[in-house]
Amino acid sequence: MVTVYDVAQACGLSIASVSRALNGQVGVSQATAERILRTADELGYQRNEVARSLVAKSTQTIALLVPDITNPFFPELVKGVQSVADENDLLLLLLDAPTDAETLRPRLAALRRKQVDGILLVASALDDDMAHLFGDTPAVLLDRGHSGVHATVGVDQEAAGYDATRHLLAAGHIRIGHIAGPAELSVAHARRAGWRRALEEAGLPAGEELVASGDFEEEGGHRAGQELLDRVPDLTAVFAANDLSAIGFLALCAERSIRVPDEMSVIGIDGIELARYTTPALTTIAQPIRELGAAACRSLLAQIDADSSVPDVTLPTVLMPGASVRARGGSR
Ligand code: RIB
Repeated sequence: MVTVYDVAQACGLSIASVSRALNGQVGVSQATAERILRTADELGYQRNEVARSLVAKSTQTIALLVPDITNPFFPELVKGVQSVADENDLLLLLLDAPTDAETLRPRLAALRRKQVDGILLVASALDDDMAHLFGDTPAVLLDRGHSGVHATVGVDQEAAGYDATRHLLAAGHIRIGHIAGPAELSVAHARRAGWRRALEEAGLPAGEELVASGDFEEEGGHRAGQELLDRVPDLTAVFAANDLSAIGFLALCAERSIRVPDEMSVIGIDGIELARYTTPALTTIAQPIRELGAAACRSLLAQIDADSSVPDVTLPTVLMPGASVRARGGSR
């Protein structure tokens, strides 16, 4: 095995100089450090990451916890985080984000024992007394936040629900159902609040009979859609809280020979790539998914470097027109 001694011999330098260069410390010129690193690579020297971590007081590792990696939203989010981790030579640990606090607690504790430099969490299960769970490990909440715990990077969820519903109202629809997200998620409540605000501003009823709860997956969209259509047969439009729920509802409409958009307009939220390839293509309120991941990672790195809290970051959504919404009465 090639050691620091071998590298020092090959460079004709002291072990101390070579160690400083290999650990990115000051005390050697840039040219000398580059010569040392080049020689180390040529000899096949493998840095001892544990030793380096102890010296640098950094593991160069961050953790990202996301729920449901079967939902295309999250792999896109991971790509955004990964792009910034790569720019900063960081190892990214990807873990499942549990939806219950009892599973989340030990997972965060294990990451702290591993001395990760920071944690990014899509927080489905945070409650008020969980701030301490992160200890002194820098953390940023991503997409699903929790006020007062850590900075959150996401979109204005209530506005996204409002904009989706406004788009249907602008098309002349007045009987607009809502397939809500999971009842335990704050993002679901926020989007439903946006739906309600848009209807109330238009002087339209926004009663419980117009809402059915999904699970942010296709199956839940299909099931909640059945509930809605059986309960309120005069709906001419549905706002689904995320694209997968909308896709499940599109499948239900096809099964029931309900023509979209001629007889039923449908809009979602997320802007996942799959939404472009449904029949008809899904109109949706697109989140800047990859940018959210990148911005969250940058916020975390800023917090690590500054050793202080960082502000929330809210990125804009944008309407992604498809072919699933049509003006009531059939005209385009
Ligand atoms: O589709 C998954 C949903 O969960 C997205 O809308 C995203 O905001 C996340 O919270």
